Amino acid sequence: MVSKTNIRKKKVSTNWEYSAAPESTDHISLKSNYDLFIAGKFTKPKEGTYFNSINPANETNIAKVASAGKADVNKAVSAAKVAYENVWKKMDPSQRGKYIYRIARLIQERVREFAVIESLDGGKPIRESRDIDIPLAAAHFFYYAGWADKLDYAFPGRKTKPIGVAGQIIPWNFPLLMAAWKIAPALASGNTVVLKPAETTPLTALKLAEIIQDADLPPGVVNIVTGDGSTGKYLVDHPKVDKIAFTGSTEVGKSIIQALAGSSKKYTLELGGKAANIIFEDAPIDQAVEGIINSIFFNQGHVCCAGSRLYVQESVSKEIISKLKSRMENLILGDPLDKNTDIGAINSKTQLEKIQMYLDIGVDEGSTIYQSTCTIPKKGYWCAPTLFTDMSQSHRLVQEEIFGPVLVIQTFRTIDEVIAKANNTPYGLSGGVWTDKGSKIFKISKDIRAGVIWGNTFNKFDPTSPFGGYKESGMGREGGLEGLLQYVNLY
Ligand code: NAI
Ligand code: MG
Repeated sequence: MVSKTNIRKKKVSTNWEYSAAPESTDHISLKSNYDLFIAGKFTKPKEGTYFNSINPANETNIAKVASAGKADVNKAVSAAKVAYENVWKKMDPSQRGKYIYRIARLIQERVREFAVIESLDGGKPIRESRDIDIPLAAAHFFYYAGWADKLDYAFPGRKTKPIGVAGQIIPWNFPLLMAAWKIAPALASGNTVVLKPAETTPLTALKLAEIIQDADLPPGVVNIVTGDGSTGKYLVDHPKVDKIAFTGSTEVGKSIIQALAGSSKKYTLELGGKAANIIFEDAPIDQAVEGIINSIFFNQGHVCCAGSRLYVQESVSKEIISKLKSRMENLILGDPLDKNTDIGAINSKTQLEKIQMYLDIGVDEGSTIYQSTCTIPKKGYWCAPTLFTDMSQSHRLVQEEIFGPVLVIQTFRTIDEVIAKANNTPYGLSGGVWTDKGSKIFKISKDIRAGVIWGNTFNKFDPTSPFGGYKESGMGREGGLEGLLQYVNLY
């Protein structure tokens, strides 16, 4: 990818190089063709259309995946409706819980296989898919399985009823984890599901379909329809879908709200973010530097809650920026399957082009770009860890979501100034604060309008904690009891 901002110097490495330590792929089983998962069976798409899911690290095709048209989505929704009315909503809740536990255990047993497939299909480092994505996905199934027969205690004094058929549309940044966030609470509270994975990362959802078969889940309780945005739209517009749960871009989120206006469908939306990560002069500087690296370079910055805006108190800004640059030099970019890799591949060509566009805009707006001098592989989609200084609040890079390994840095003097700056974007999903003083953490977390603020850490997740945004970052919560609440009617 050639761009005027690809101006990295030739690598002059003073570091010890690690020997390659690639995770083996001989234990995974992948078919060359995947059909739609409807009513418990893999089913050919009516129009017979398939698309390729590629490996973004080397641009090779991994498998052909069915593209669901309107008739296929109808079929999946009907299967979900029948399963809802005849089986799932009537089932004893403790039995529902057993099925969900079974799914959790089967994921746990196959964690290595799922981790490798997640990294192959989406480009994320194996260390993350192995240690974060897949274990957390299993943890969500375990957590919500526990609630299935305790719904009377979840919302004291109230009774719950399921909503019906949930249409769930998920993105490519945490494919299996997003599927778990959506499917687990829906099933635990008695709903059935039609899930649409993202078109660049459908494979772990299709492997999950195999687990759902192995778990003997009644046919139609979970259906998986693959395809692009048009498949998602059929699901949104379908009259028999009772609820839409969406994670993805703010633009598509807005179009979903418009499409649902006037209907009785419920919805939850988890959209973009532009989190402020705030470093005070009394922070533990070395830990904060590591936290900044994790907040923005984790998963190539393909994280809606990434700490993409850094605010550093003026007195420590030189020290922090210099330490950040030297730490960036040590980040290893390359083969996602290598256990040493810190930065994997950008998920798709389209996403890389979007990131490159923002790098160009940043330079055009007069900011100073710094990129680490790592070697970029010849094939695949890659972006070196990047930071920008000399920014002002009105710059597009400060206001808009980039969704890549790109950090924009500004300085501040007072707490009130940084709170005003942090709140000055259309988003409100997350944020971070680094300081020695609990009082500052409390003030920041009270005054910044964001769903989660991490104190002296970043990107920590747990199935019991609700997650979701204010403003254009969405509505509703996922995780915890709040996540369960989105799938029930209370009476
Ligand atoms: P997107 O919002 O288009 O895709 C997310 C999901 O929605 C995919 O499954 C897609 O097929 C589906 N979809 C697309 N159009 C739809 C429609 N009209 N109706 C129903 N479903 C539809 O996101 P995209 O294009 O992959 O990424 C664009 C930007 O969105 C990224 O650069 C990033 O800024 C943001 N994004 C945010 C995510 C988050 O976690 N909040 C995740 C992915 C992307
Ligand atoms: Mg792929």
